[in-house]
Amino acid sequence: LPAPGTVEFKNVTFGYPGAEAPVLSDISFTAKPGQTTAIIGSTGAGKTTLLNLIPRLYDATEGEILIGGLPLRELGRETISQNISSVPQRPYLFSGTIASNLRFGAQEAEEEDLWEALRIAQADGFVAEREGQLESKISQGGTNVSGGQRQRLCIARALAAKPKTYLFDDSFSALDVSTDAKLRAALVEPTKDAAVIIVAQRVSTITEADQILVLDHGEIVARGTHEELLESSETYQEIVTS
Ligand code: GTP
Ligand code: MG
Repeated sequence: LPAPGTVEFKNVTFGYPGAEAPVLSDISFTAKPGQTTAIIGSTGAGKTTLLNLIPRLYDATEGEILIGGLPLRELGRETISQNISSVPQRPYLFSGTIASNLRFGAQEAEEEDLWEALRIAQADGFVAEREGQLESKISQGGTNVSGGQRQRLCIARALAAKPKTYLFDDSFSALDVSTDAKLRAALVEPTKDAAVIIVAQRVSTITEADQILVLDHGEIVARGTHEELLESSETYQEIVTS
């Protein structure tokens, strides 16, 4: 079997229930542990939809998704949530404390582990400044922290779960360029054995990725490294220069 955490899409097609045309067509790729797979493409291309198939928010209409070589459809919800952490495009915090939000996928985590996750996510500073720190209250939806703070807390939550597969949906866009760079440098070590899939808007976030998939109207129109795509893909060149 492929290593745990490996995500394989085999000729996956997906259409939303009731919609006429599929949103994703014949998607095939493998995201391997120890590698970063980036997905880039214009708004509406299907990037979020593609990521959402991995934790089974929806099931593929055709084709198959395998995790560590096992069909996703045969894995239980619990196995999926223990092995895959997803930072959604609109990161969500629920009412409770910072600690309870961070322990969402990691009930057993010690305070020390939570602080470590916060440090990596560049969120330790503002948490340390809050009254009550880890026990400070978060209101429903996380409206009492800023968008960028919410994004970093959701990244810390994903890290605390120590999954084999990370899904980041445009997770670095609300961050200023300097925090973005620091965070991504800090992520290298803790995610080095995991399969990392990143949806990005900024090309600067993904130039180092092991493979980049260029998605256009639900199809992978090009794939390769940043250097390869600069040579081979007009769509990619347009994204880079836009
Ligand atoms: P950005 O996040 O804006 O960059 O776009 P994206 O690439 O993530 O696209 P996304 O996967 O969100 O959407 C792909 C297509 O599916 C678009 O045409 C959306 O309008 C459509 N879509 C997204 N969510 C839903 C849904 O819940 N129901 C239906 N019927 N269509 C949806
Ligand atoms: Mg999206």
